[in-house]
Amino acid sequence: LDEANSRLAAGSPSAEGTAATYPADAKLIALTFDDGPGKSTTPRLLDELKKRGAKATFFVVGSNAKKYPDLIRRMAEEGHAIGNHSYSHQNLVKADEATMKEQILRCAELIQTITGHMPTLLRPPGGNFDDRLQTYAKETGLSLVNWTVDTRDWKTRDKEAILAAAFQTGTYGIQDGAIVLMHDVYESTVDAAVEMMDRLQEQGYILVTVPELLRVRCGGAQAGVLYYSDSRSHSIG
Ligand code: NI
Repeated sequence: LDEANSRLAAGSPSAEGTAATYPADAKLIALTFDDGPGKSTTPRLLDELKKRGAKATFFVVGSNAKKYPDLIRRMAEEGHAIGNHSYSHQNLVKADEATMKEQILRCAELIQTITGHMPTLLRPPGGNFDDRLQTYAKETGLSLVNWTVDTRDWKTRDKEAILAAAFQTGTYGIQDGAIVLMHDVYESTVDAAVEMMDRLQEQGYILVTVPELLRVRCGGAQAGVLYYSDSRSHSIG
């Protein structure tokens, strides 16, 4: 694992293309999809994103990436960001240190093998983190990414409930700079995401990847920092 650790820390050139610029008053939002890829749900979501010129971030589970490498390649080719969501969706806070590292490295190396790029973003399963994980992320050049908008899509599995959660007013609803949590393994989530994208674009939002949101708003993602949105983060200092 030591050699793999060094490779993780060394990273590899970003898959991001040329830097886009946005109007000063542009509203940006990052839709994120965890736990996939899913065999039929993810291709449909990719089709709908493509139709709208929208970009998203996929926090993939290594064991699913291994099953559907073509979907991982497609995500990368179509300009989406791919992040690490561990190899088999283990709670990294409850795992011993060797298991925590192995869960991250195994997924990272698989993504690198498929796309040629080592992921630099990690969303720990369940959003569970502690100082140990954050220190490891800092050492290995990873940024942690959680969310400000929890659609609870995995729980409700209902398009209207997902949309209601996303568009609620106040701190936990969609707003400029938000990071939205969904899971591209449910048909109901894809149904909701399609309508969400249309509503957001009608409201003038630009749908960007997490690295793009953080590049534009925070000068880029920093290693060891846990991001919730473009304006909320937690650093171990
Ligand atoms: Ni998950």
